[in-house]
Amino acid sequence: MPYTSQPSSDSSSPVKKAITVNTLRKMKASGEKFVTVALYDAPMAAMALKSGVEVLLVGDSLGMTVLGYDSTLPVTMEHMIYHVEAVKRGNNKSLIMADMPFMTYATPEQAMANAARLMQAGAHMVKLEGGEWLADTVTMLTERGIPVCAHLGLTPQSVNKFGGFRVQGRSDTQAQQIIADAKAMDAAGADLVVLECVPSELAAKVTATVSMATIGIGAGAGTDAQVLVINDILGLTEQPPKFSKNFLLATADIPSALAKYVADVKSGVFPTDAQGFS
Ligand code: KIV
Repeated sequence: MPYTSQPSSDSSSPVKKAITVNTLRKMKASGEKFVTVALYDAPMAAMALKSGVEVLLVGDSLGMTVLGYDSTLPVTMEHMIYHVEAVKRGNNKSLIMADMPFMTYATPEQAMANAARLMQAGAHMVKLEGGEWLADTVTMLTERGIPVCAHLGLTPQSVNKFGGFRVQGRSDTQAQQIIADAKAMDAAGADLVVLECVPSELAAKVTATVSMATIGIGAGAGTDAQVLVINDILGLTEQPPKFSKNFLLATADIPSALAKYVADVKSGVFPTDAQGFS
């Protein structure tokens, strides 16, 4: 079937049944790592399914990786809906998580209206950046049937507040705040949390403290799962971050590169200590 990005047959995929929040909960409990890829279109979503990727993140990183902006701030709901619909068409088994763009969840009312649009476009979960201040919003969303992934550490929508894309949680005060934020998100009912660019030791501590599963990026090997951006996995980034890896270099094609990433996360080969921060 040329020119199609529809999942042809799922029989070759290690993902046999649709992934749900329950699947991820069980994986955390059993200690099996799960794998997330931030990607934006149907063909990549279909290849991710064949390669065994459990969670697809339609990230607002698309502002930088696809649309050419220098931050995620210009990304709109319309951009996100367009890409969630595309990803959904390519993959009928992995869990699809959609980022809520900058300022679309500044109040609980805004968050509920905008999260509903992403779920109606095909997402199974929404992701929002922030900690304690978002607890009421997360409770409202989860009580109304919308699973939530929190995002702590280097939260790119706050790049102007941070004064650049910098590792977070290195000072004692920052580390304590990240732990408090993670506990608040857990108590509010979040199902997952992304920990981005935080010291590996801190990420492992958060993982041991909360009941929700943790997904690390630049956070060491001690989290319940890992996420990388597809552009980094495939060597499309001019100056790749030190926590990423080009998996296409040692493989023949995109499905093999994704399958190698999945295998390396599950076996603990990726990330190495050198790919984390202290
Ligand atoms: O937008 C995104 O792709 C993300 C990941 C880098 C975690 O938030």
